[in-house]
Amino acid sequence: MKSTCIVAGNWKMNKSNQDGKSFVSEIQKRILDKGNAKVIFCPPFTSLFTIVDTLKSSDFSVGAQNVHNELKGAYTGEISVNMLNSIGVEYAIIGHSDRRHTFGELDDFINKKIITTSKSNVIPIFCIGETLDQRKSGLTGKILKDQIELGLKNIDNINPEKFILAYEPVWAIGTGETASTLQVEEAHLKIKTNLETLFGSKGLDVPIIYGGSVNEKNAESLINIDGVNGFLIGGASLEIDSFCNIVNIVKNF
Ligand code: PGA
Repeated sequence: MKSTCIVAGNWKMNKSNQDGKSFVSEIQKRILDKGNAKVIFCPPFTSLFTIVDTLKSSDFSVGAQNVHNELKGAYTGEISVNMLNSIGVEYAIIGHSDRRHTFGELDDFINKKIITTSKSNVIPIFCIGETLDQRKSGLTGKILKDQIELGLKNIDNINPEKFILAYEPVWAIGTGETASTLQVEEAHLKIKTNLETLFGSKGLDVPIIYGGSVNEKNAESLINIDGVNGFLIGGASLEIDSFCNIVNIVKNF
């Protein structure tokens, strides 16, 4: 049995407040036994309060898709970790590929967000991953190492119970193209080694989840891979059947 099996659904910019509420209510009815799975819904900011409230008597968790590094001030359009905490949000995705590649977020900014979040009660889901060009040029290992070292700069201690790392190859996100077993296994091993170098045995215990076109068909083979502690799911997290099926697959591992 794996120690942790996380199933996090990243809804991105999808679902209205009402749609999100009906969606999680239905999932709550369907998934009565989560077994070994930790299920996290990451709706848009507008639905966070409603989803936390809808799930308040359950052990489903809620995460934000982003967070700012400052705690308050003139940061129009941004949300602080204290704001998330004050409404019961337990997780925040940081450094997602969409943020890095569509909104130009750099490692330094991501690092600041991780530092602030690590000092709070909100658990970071720190995303890293290489582009197709980087993979083709044999740079995957270097890119992952750089993203880990820069994203976790000036962090001396890591609490594996309060930190999640998501490996999401950029070329596999939203493309229907999943990384192969070998590619996932190698990447997760490299990430583990980097975390061990930085944080010793605690680094080895950090859960590493995979993201990139995970669906109900490939979930079983992916969760069987050594070093995979769950998934960050985009497209397939938006459909009740596929999301429930993935949770049902993962909960037995
Ligand atoms: P996908 O997205 O499952 O649609 O590939 C994953 C993600 O963006 O986290």
